[in-house]
Amino acid sequence: MTKFKAIAAVAENGVIGRGLEIPWHISEDFRHFKRTTTGGVIVMGRHTWESFKGRPLPNRENVIVSSRIKEVGGAKVFGSLEAVAKTYENDERDVWIIGGAKLYGAALPMCSELILSRVKMRPDGDVFFPPFEKMFEPRETLLKGELFDVVRYVRI
Ligand SMILES: NC(=O)c1ccc[n+]([C@@H]2O[C@H](COP(=O)([O-])OP(=O)(O)OC[C@H]3O[C@@H](n4cnc5c(N)ncnc54)[C@H](OP(=O)(O)O)[C@@H]3O)[C@@H](O)[C@H]2O)c1
Repeated sequence: MTKFKAIAAVAENGVIGRGLEIPWHISEDFRHFKRTTTGGVIVMGRHTWESFKGRPLPNRENVIVSSRIKEVGGAKVFGSLEAVAKTYENDERDVWIIGGAKLYGAALPMCSELILSRVKMRPDGDVFFPPFEKMFEPRETLLKGELFDVVRYVRI
């Protein structure tokens, strides 16, 4: 186990993305994401980085996991999740796995906690959150909204 925590927004049908986009826009959920991750380290796969169009998210240390890119402005690049885990193991900041599906799939077994926005929609999409129910159990509901609830899960 590492000090990684994961944060994601998942629709009722498991969709988290369509192409490079997230197929909904919920300002309150963006605010929750910003509030939770600001001041911490955010770790993302290369596709998710590409969806930011070269603009790192402010007030957070942006980290990309990729075997293809070696260096970009505004973010640190690592070739593996293990290298990320080792680099930040003694860092006092939270280290958030922020997606996408491929990175969640590799990182969830290393995460102690999962913060999920359960989005009350069934959008078309082609990127899905990986199975997590056997690894995590719900602990508390952090937010209740009309369009989404936020649930904190902990390791079983
Ligand atoms: N709803 C949400 O909360 C949420 C959050 C984030 C993203 N998304 C959506 O998710 C989609 C992107 O997901 P995705 O699965 O296509 O891509 P991704 O996970 O963002 O990026 C995949 C790439 O990251 C690198 N990578 C991932 N895991 C790795 C590992 N364990 N070791 C080494 N490299 C690794 C590889 O890059 P190389 O090919 O360079 O090696 C891989 O091709 C988009 O639609 C985005 O909008 C949704």
